[in-house]
Amino acid sequence: MAMGAMAQTAPAPTPAREQTLIRMVRQDCGSCHGMQLTGGLGPALTPEALSDKPVESLVATIYSGRPGTPMPPWKAMLSEVDAQWIAQRLQLGFPLESRRETK
Ligand code: HEC
Repeated sequence: MAMGAMAQTAPAPTPAREQTLIRMVRQDCGSCHGMQLTGGLGPALTPEALSDKPVESLVATIYSGRPGTPMPPWKAMLSEVDAQWIAQRLQLGFPLESRRETK
């Protein structure tokens, strides 16, 4: 596989891993944050809600959870690279699962 492109900041998950992460966020995170990530038991994870928050704090929340709240740590299932990618993508607008769905 060609490794020509330089990563701009952090290392990124592979495209296949990204698809796994997208499915996981839509399903597992969606159970608390809403299937559209617009909020439920947990707060909205939309760009409107997150774009002005420091990305490191979102990564820390995803990776380590928020003690004393229902937000669980995901470090058993996610690498820090994964958590970083999810946090950045949530701030930009999280992708839909790439199966053929009309959006
Ligand atoms: C069991 C329910 C639950 C699940 C599952 C869950 N969360 Fe949360 N999450 C919460 C709650 C509740 C909060 C708010 C915590 C607080 O009060 O500070 C939160 C907070 C967050 C925040 C911080 C939001 C902010 O505005 O600072 C992020 C980011 C986040 N969750 C991402 C995720 C991701 C990504 C997943 C899946 C990998 C996930 N959550 C799964 C309940 C959940």
